[in-house]
Amino acid sequence: MQRIDKIIASQGKYSRSEVKKLIDKNKVKVDGQVVQSSGVKVDPSKSKITLNDLDIAYKEFVYLMLNKPKGYVSARVDKDHPTVLDLVPEELLGRNLFPAGRLDRDTRGLVIITDDGLLAHNILSPKKHVEKIYHVKIDIPLTEDMVLGFARGVELKDGICKEAFLEIIDEYTARVRLKEGRYHQIKRMFGCFAAKVIELQRISMGNLTLPEDLQEGSCRELSDEELRLLQQL
Ligand code: URA
Repeated sequence: MQRIDKIIASQGKYSRSEVKKLIDKNKVKVDGQVVQSSGVKVDPSKSKITLNDLDIAYKEFVYLMLNKPKGYVSARVDKDHPTVLDLVPEELLGRNLFPAGRLDRDTRGLVIITDDGLLAHNILSPKKHVEKIYHVKIDIPLTEDMVLGFARGVELKDGICKEAFLEIIDEYTARVRLKEGRYHQIKRMFGCFAAKVIELQRISMGNLTLPEDLQEGSCRELSDEELRLLQQL
């Protein structure tokens, strides 16, 4: 059971003081009864809460997938650049959302944004070895040497990488499967072969793949099935 004002404010659209004013104006009902006080305690999973007679559709957590364009920082705030939260619908911005994992500013592709700290921890935990697939374009022709090096474990300044799979698509483009997420990892791995990454796009995390119909710069809530895939990680 939680206070009704807290429950409504947690959904991100109204601040706690705005909710209090709405309650004073008799705009909030629980199971059809007008709420008389902001301190009333309710179980949001059992009661129907309405605001202006519209269901607030309570969600404890929100899970979004974003097709991140270049130019956006994977952080909540940044003083110099737009962040992935600038691409989130405004009505959700009152929630405590953050990106579960980072892509570099010039990397595109799949980013999960949520306010579920436990799920984020599970996705990011190095112990879980969640596999991520990237589409990469480099500035020199790909070689079998790179394929073998990635499979053996490239040695970076911060230690040897876990085995990674490099699948050559054509002379300059490849798919890379990684089980870790170190800082600039793919760029640094190719750097060991004197190659520069020109384009980088994350196309999947675990069993969750970036849908083709999700436009760059768009985000949407995960379906129940997609959330299940993510929770399995
Ligand atoms: N590896 C990188 O170098 N950059 C990313 O954004 C993701 C993986």
